[in-house]
Parts: sequence; C-alpha cells; structure tokens
Amino acid sequence: MKIGLSYDLKDSVSAGSGQPEDALEEYDSIETVDALKAAIEAKGHTVVKLGGGREFLKQVLSKKVDFVFNISEGLGSYRSREAQAPSVLEMLDIPYSGADPQCLTVCLDKHLTKKLVAFAGVPTPKWSVIDHDNVKYVDWAALPSPAFVKPVWEGSSKGIRFNSLVRDPEQIKPIVTQLLKQYCQPVLVEEFISGEEVTVGVVGNNPPKLVGIMRVVPRQQNSDFVYSLEVKRDYLKLVDYECPAKLNKTILKDIEKYALKAFQVLECRDFSRVDFRISADGTPYFLEINPLAGLNPRSSDLIIMAKLLGLAYNDLIGSILEAALKRYPKCH
Ligand SMILES: Nc1ncnc2c1ncn2[C@@H]1O[C@H](COP(=O)(O)OP(=O)(O)OP(=O)(O)O)[C@@H](O)[C@H]1O
Ligand SMILES: [Mg+2]
Repeated sequence: MKIGLSYDLKDSVSAGSGQPEDALEEYDSIETVDALKAAIEAKGHTVVKLGGGREFLKQVLSKKVDFVFNISEGLGSYRSREAQAPSVLEMLDIPYSGADPQCLTVCLDKHLTKKLVAFAGVPTPKWSVIDHDNVKYVDWAALPSPAFVKPVWEGSSKGIRFNSLVRDPEQIKPIVTQLLKQYCQPVLVEEFISGEEVTVGVVGNNPPKLVGIMRVVPRQQNSDFVYSLEVKRDYLKLVDYECPAKLNKTILKDIEKYALKAFQVLECRDFSRVDFRISADGTPYFLEINPLAGLNPRSSDLIIMAKLLGLAYNDLIGSILEAALKRYPKCH
C-alpha cells in the first residue's frame, strides 16, 4: 500500500510571540518520522511524508495515498487541534490510523475526559475547573489541598512544573492566575495523589489489549514527585522505568481494568497510553489518556515500555498499523 505519514515537526511550527517557553513541546522530531517510515516500510509498504499544516493539505490532495499513519498534533492552542488532520482525512474519505476527531477532541480536554471516565466508575482525582469567567467567584479555601494545578487541554507536561503541586492553599490563586494568562485556557485544580506513578500502554481493538504497565520511579525518592516538564526533558538523569511494574497483583488488575475501561468509554482506537497515580490505600487514580501517545524511538514512554518488555519498535508500530488497517475492510 501507499501510506502517507502526517505529522507536525517542531522545526516547522512557529510559536508566535508571547507564547510560553514550552509552547512547541508536543511537536515531533524528524527522528520520529524517519523511524516510523522505516517501521512501515519494513511491513512492505511505500511511505510518503505528508508533513503538517498547509504542506499536509497540499500533499494529501496531490499524492493519492491509500491510507495515512497519523501522528499530527495540529496547530494553535485550540482544544480540538489534534482533530485537524483526521477531520481533513475524513472529508477526503482517506482511511487513517488512530482515534477519530471526536475522541481526540474529548481526550485533549481533561475536564470532559474525567467526567466520562468517572461516570464509568473509574476513580479520578476530585477536581474543579477555573476559567477567565468564573475566576472572580472561586471559593479558594474550598479547593483540594494539597492541590495539583494544570492547564486543562495540554499534553507533554506543558504547564506542569515543580510548582504545580501546591501545598500552601494561599498559593493556589496566584498559580492559577498565572496559568490562565500564559496558556489562554481554563485551569484544572485537582486533588494531589501522592504515590506511585504508572503509565499503561494499550494496543488493538475489539478487544484492545494491554501492552504493559510501567512504573516511573524517581531516582531521588520523595512523596512530592511529579513527572513534570523538567523531569521529562531530563528523564535519563532523573527517573528509572520499571516494566512490568512490580506492584501487588490486586493493584495491577485494577490498573488493567481501569485502563481498558477508559480506552473503551472514550472510544479510542488502535493505541493509547493511560496515566495513573496510586494512592496510599492502593487505589489507581486515572489522570489522563493519550490517544495520540508519542512514538519517538528513544524517549517516548510507550516505546520505552515496549523495549523493556522485549518488543521491538518496528513490531509495536506494526501492531498499531495492523489494528488500524483491520478497521477498514477496503484496505486489505
Ligand atoms: N492529580 C494529580 N496528582 C498527582 N500528580 C499529578 C496529578 N495530575 C498530574 N500529576 C503529575 O503530573 C504529570 C503530568 O500530568 P498529566 O499526565 O495530566 O499531563 P500531560 O501533559 O497530559 O502528560 P503527557 O506528557 O503524558 O501528555 C503526571 O504524570 C503526574 O506526575
Ligand atoms: Mg500524562
């Protein structure tokens, strides 16, 4: 098959003036694109690089691809930005990998996502949403303490720093006000779950299956650990990864149940990565799901997890592609 690759490179997107320093954090590198190209070619397909933005629009109209492997993050700070490329592909009736626009839009919005998973019985930290309109009326003393404060529709730990964990209730207001200004979107104030950090890989459809459960272990043990932007940028020095996670069997079973439940309730497709924190009483709390999880061959959590389990990059990408192609009878 002739398979197009849609992606947004850090080098091709401009942040614009006044944007926060991490504005381009979610965008990909050419290393990821080349690794995906090689993995898809290893399955016997021809790969056409379609790029992102206006370049993608031009290329997808002219290159006549049979299918698109999509990792495009989309442009702007819109909460539906990840839906941009898949929406164009649906308009042109070109089949593609991964979640559809509706799922991508919901999952980038942590507030909507948490409402849906909570309704399905998946534990998630208590939360409030503060936006430019309601900020005047917030009862700051009624917010959870300690609190965790983050932008509501970001990923790649954008806006999540060492100061996102707020132990002093007096500090919540200034931090929320600063985030509202910097990220131009509502802010989520959550109950802070101090405990193990795990991330879960899921691949496939009907039924989706667990790739693995990976624990993120800070080198310097402390109950205030946050898998923040600073840590993700310096992960080789600051954390170790343990997969399979050495946790008790009941907790592992619950994590598996909740990760698969979240994948299904949110109608993810082909692959996803789901993040949890485990409280002192052993409850895994759902933080968020990434239907467009990073696929960098060195640094992405899903790939690190696969490697620790002995699963090669090309095989993992192959199984995502296979799951996607199976959804389209006409692609066989
Ligand atoms: N309520 C919480 N309690 C404890 N820690 C939290 C909470 N919310 C977020 N964190 C910490 O912040 C990290 C990043 O949060 P989150 O996963 O919501 O952000 P993200 O930017 O969507 O992440 P990703 O890079 O996976 O896309 C978590 O992995 C966790 O360490
Ligand atoms: Mg996360």
